[in-house]
Amino acid sequence: MKFKMRALCAGALGCLLFGSVAAHATNIEVLHWWTSGGEAKAAAQLKSIMESKGYTWKDFAVAGGGGENAMTVLKTRVVSGDPPAAAQIKGPSIQEWGAEGVLADLSPVANVEKWDRMLPEVVADVMKYDGHYVAVPVNVHRVNWMWINPAVFKAAGADVPRTWDEFPEAAKKIRAAGYIPLAHGGQPWQDFTVFESVVLGVGGADFYRQAMVKLDQKALHSDTMRHAFEVFGSLRADIDPDAPNRDWNQATAMVINGKAAMQLMGDWAKGEFTQAGKMPGKDYECVAAPGSQNAFTFNIDSLVMFQQNDANVTKGQHALASAVLSPAFQKVFNLAKGSIPVRTDMDLSDFDACARKSARDFQAAAKAGTLVPSIAHQMAVPAATAGAMQDVVTQFFNAPGASVDNVLDRLAQAARIQ
Ligand code: BGC
Repeated sequence: MKFKMRALCAGALGCLLFGSVAAHATNIEVLHWWTSGGEAKAAAQLKSIMESKGYTWKDFAVAGGGGENAMTVLKTRVVSGDPPAAAQIKGPSIQEWGAEGVLADLSPVANVEKWDRMLPEVVADVMKYDGHYVAVPVNVHRVNWMWINPAVFKAAGADVPRTWDEFPEAAKKIRAAGYIPLAHGGQPWQDFTVFESVVLGVGGADFYRQAMVKLDQKALHSDTMRHAFEVFGSLRADIDPDAPNRDWNQATAMVINGKAAMQLMGDWAKGEFTQAGKMPGKDYECVAAPGSQNAFTFNIDSLVMFQQNDANVTKGQHALASAVLSPAFQKVFNLAKGSIPVRTDMDLSDFDACARKSARDFQAAAKAGTLVPSIAHQMAVPAATAGAMQDVVTQFFNAPGASVDNVLDRLAQAARIQ
């Protein structure tokens, strides 16, 4: 921060020197894709914390759920030698960026603040490259949720399906009563998000891990995977014709407004219910995606910092990292975002029933060995592999009548791409 000095000379008082703050606060540019109502409210919390610390927040928001667009723009910026101070990058991609040698070391903050004690080990490991923290985790999202409009279920006389076998009966009643069973946005990442929940619900956590994390060829060719594709394909009949290209938050709005009965989406959807003033247990319900009650697909948002030439920006990165893990931020951000705090020592009494359920289920799944990383949200496998698999899944979903035999082969082939 620079001070402009001016001299004011007034008669016998002589000259007084006084300073005024010039508008030269250090810019901290942060790339993210938090642009929906709930997401933007959450991001605004970080902006205001940084401003209270004397920095200027330079918002680098790139719309597009799931973050594909943001990652494309980021690559261009880094290649041209002009990376932002921080960017929303997750999971195995942190290692890929680390290997490029462009990430900043956050150890100075992490050591002082004892992040190793504050974070679950599974989370801390993902944030480190070569033993050093290069990213700061923001939250824990659960992906295998189903968002329910209870009034629509009641009007249709349908029961909330607890398994994929029960799903068609509920969908039939909902359709007959004039509602859309499943709110969906036809974008590749949303198709993949639904698909991973179907795989988890049909096959269970061990199968999910074999197929979607270990990429085991036998699992990918198995009858269980065949059945998952059959169930997934059957959902084409449960979505409306306007689904192509619809954004995820517009699909959530269909559940909020009572046009549709259900949405399969991570708990950033809850941010939209909250933003609309809706209460869980009254206006909407959060239940595990069919068949996945005892499992938890996790998706952890994190901010990665890029090396900078300006020492003031480096200082700002440290301030940002420290703010993200502060209890105050963990609370306000996650209340708006729909996720739960990543710190294990937080009091959740101000959080709603869905968040508390998420925290309980996270612990239970960790104990039971059913805590699995989301493939659709870049937690499970390298980005190139996930992208190739997502292409296969989305092509299948958008080609009614596509052969299941064929798609099994194609998915298994895509899983070999690194
Ligand atoms: C991110 C969330 C975001 C969602 C929708 C996910 O991949 O982890 O933070 O809200 O995409 O854009």
